[in-house]
Amino acid sequence: MATGTIAHSFARDLALVPDATLAAVGSRRLESAKAFTGEFGGRAHGSYEDLVADPDVDVVYLATPHSLHLAGARLAFEAGKHVLCEKPLTLSVSEAEDMVALARSHDRFLMEAMWTATHPTIRALRRRLAVGEFGAPRHLHAELGFLVRSDSPDRLLDPALGASALLDMGIYPLTVAHLLFGEALSLQALANTRAEPTGTFDLDIVMTGRYPDGVLATMASSMTSWSSRAAAIATDRGRIDLDDFHHPTRAVFTPIGGGSNDGTAPGTPVAIEPEEPVLGRGYGNEIAEVGRCLRAGLRESPLVPHAQTLAIMRQLDELRRQVGVVYS
Ligand SMILES: NC(=O)c1ccc[n+]([C@@H]2O[C@H](COP(=O)([O-])OP(=O)(O)OC[C@H]3O[C@@H](n4cnc5c(N)ncnc54)[C@H](OP(=O)(O)O)[C@@H]3O)[C@@H](O)[C@H]2O)c1
Repeated sequence: MATGTIAHSFARDLALVPDATLAAVGSRRLESAKAFTGEFGGRAHGSYEDLVADPDVDVVYLATPHSLHLAGARLAFEAGKHVLCEKPLTLSVSEAEDMVALARSHDRFLMEAMWTATHPTIRALRRRLAVGEFGAPRHLHAELGFLVRSDSPDRLLDPALGASALLDMGIYPLTVAHLLFGEALSLQALANTRAEPTGTFDLDIVMTGRYPDGVLATMASSMTSWSSRAAAIATDRGRIDLDDFHHPTRAVFTPIGGGSNDGTAPGTPVAIEPEEPVLGRGYGNEIAEVGRCLRAGLRESPLVPHAQTLAIMRQLDELRRQVGVVYS
């Protein structure tokens, strides 16, 4: 559902996933749907209603702006389809709870398209960190930002479509911290905001968090500058570095002072290898997870459970409250 930027990246990776087929594409305009199917295959529909009515569609991937996710999900569930919904699930936790309730009442599968959580490198890091292989984590620093040009219309700068550095980018460091350390005990934010006739939104945001076992996090997102996209986790035995933490191509542990469990000399970085192949840029692994869950008869993914999505949505609500971003 929808033919924007992320739908293109998604379709490219879907072609690499065994047992997944792009059956159909729905767009507000038939020409857009036809251009998309011309590139990636499938049947073109000139409305979202026609897409969800297509009998060949099992799962609807929602790639509309976040303010439209709930309406799109309702349409899909009422037509009996399962849903993979882009992040953030909705604009607020109350809307997200409504979406989860709709999935349950229609007995359909629902997963937030949080590809970071299904990425094989992040999964390997999560598993190995949890068993203490890299020592006790003490501090995470993660930042994700890119310049959004304001000289042409863009959903990223339109409050009516859920504009927010926090919702578009800040959700990733928050999710990584949650995956690695558990639910935040407290979060604080500072932001630069911009007022538009349709609402005020955050252009840049910095956040600090306290997590279980005394782990602290500093996180940043920006629509006005080029952040590194990197993350570093300091432990009592060394440091973990991720080049692009929301879909890493490189993750290493550098033991410092005490050496690592496998006897590697201090100071020599050791790669944290993914335990299964990364499919495409990593969207493929998220798509494969949906297929795996459906074949197993699941209604939510253990890698992206509803409770996790709702916990992060609650955090987004709280951080928006702190920086004064309210959607109409
Ligand atoms: N997982 C990731 O890495 C990732 C990356 C970027 C974005 N996202 C998420 O994916 C969603 C879409 O982001 P995007 O960057 O692909 O956005 P985009 O390029 O602006 O595309 C959004 C698409 O939604 C449809 N749409 C329906 N009503 C619309 C409206 N009123 N205004 C604008 N578009 C409308 C349009 O498709 P039709 O005209 O074909 O209907 C449009 O092409 C967002 O929720 C975002 O947070 C995820």
